[in-house]
Amino acid sequence: MKRSRNAGIRPLRSRSASSLSPIGKLERLLEYSRKNFAERHLDDLLPEMASQTRILLDADRCSIFILDKSRKVLWSRIAHGTKATLTIPLTKGIAAETVKTGRVQNIRDAYRDPRFNRDVDRDTGYRTRTILSAPMKNLQGEVLGVFQVLNKRGTISFGPEDEKILAVITGQAAVAVENAQLYDQVREAVSDTILRLSAAAECKDRDTGRHILRMSRVSAVIAEALDCPKTFSDNILLASPMHDIGKLGVSDAILSKPGRLTEEEIREMRKHTIYGGRILKGSSNEIIQMSERIALCHHEKFDGSGYPRGLAGKEIPLEARITALADVFDALTNRRAYKDAYSLDESLKMIRDGAGSHFDPKVVDAFFSRLDDILACSGPDSAEVSAEPYPAGIMDPV
Ligand SMILES: [Fe+2]
Repeated sequence: MKRSRNAGIRPLRSRSASSLSPIGKLERLLEYSRKNFAERHLDDLLPEMASQTRILLDADRCSIFILDKSRKVLWSRIAHGTKATLTIPLTKGIAAETVKTGRVQNIRDAYRDPRFNRDVDRDTGYRTRTILSAPMKNLQGEVLGVFQVLNKRGTISFGPEDEKILAVITGQAAVAVENAQLYDQVREAVSDTILRLSAAAECKDRDTGRHILRMSRVSAVIAEALDCPKTFSDNILLASPMHDIGKLGVSDAILSKPGRLTEEEIREMRKHTIYGGRILKGSSNEIIQMSERIALCHHEKFDGSGYPRGLAGKEIPLEARITALADVFDALTNRRAYKDAYSLDESLKMIRDGAGSHFDPKVVDAFFSRLDDILACSGPDSAEVSAEPYPAGIMDPV
């Protein structure tokens, strides 16, 4: 997905910290901590913290290492001057020494310090002179990682004031990092549970389990293309796999019937939207609440001809207008037990033709504006493509 998670973050002014008064530095620190506590994603938090630390300490570079206790290494995706992920064993270098001692290391001449590991300089062509390395400890005193700041600008080395500032930064960073790690763990657990529950519903049906993964990624890309808030795009990725969870309430005889369904069976099949809404109803969790709206409304159509309630236009929640398109697109482009896949050109034509009737035209525009990304994350399961004209009702995957 193209949009950076940092898109909404305004970088602090890059004015040199040495020109700031003590109050100015304090203001920076406060602004810095406010931003960090608001950021819930580790991948966004770390670069922001590295940039601000570099500015506050008038340093040339900053690297933030996270401790992997099980592998006994420090790793960093955030090291100024290199895009590579750095992995450092705990046996080598100043950062490892910082973890082992749990204390700040202020190195005034790196190349004269026998603990300094020259490998990174050799690989990157950089020349490290001075190092200020501080452990990032949580409230229990456990080391979570290391902040390493290189080459103080303008003066010979880092001073006691720099050590104090870095101690404040790492103390706040530890809380923010722990929060972000917990947030990631919770989202991972929620995501895992949702996918397993959704797979249970898919198992009853003729769709493949991969359908829910593909259509959820497509839904998130469309949400991004519509410039929805990032929380919305993140949530729809997790919420949309449950769109057909109501199939758990539909009898196997109908779900696995090989031929055409009778009118009565179709009516029963369509109730999966209502069953899904019931299963998900009443949650206080915003992801499950979104899932409920999607499950209930993903077969509504923009012109009001859908089911179960015949909602039209903006009466249909945006998340359901998005997943409706993602669901149909995936059903068209992939083979199912009851049909072959349609060619991409034909599928796209059907999506375009459905703008204003089946689909929200703005959602269709957003879909086509990110078509490359959508195709990259939604490749068909099978190369088998139907040469037959599509039958009536194929635009209504149940
Ligand atoms: Fe459905």
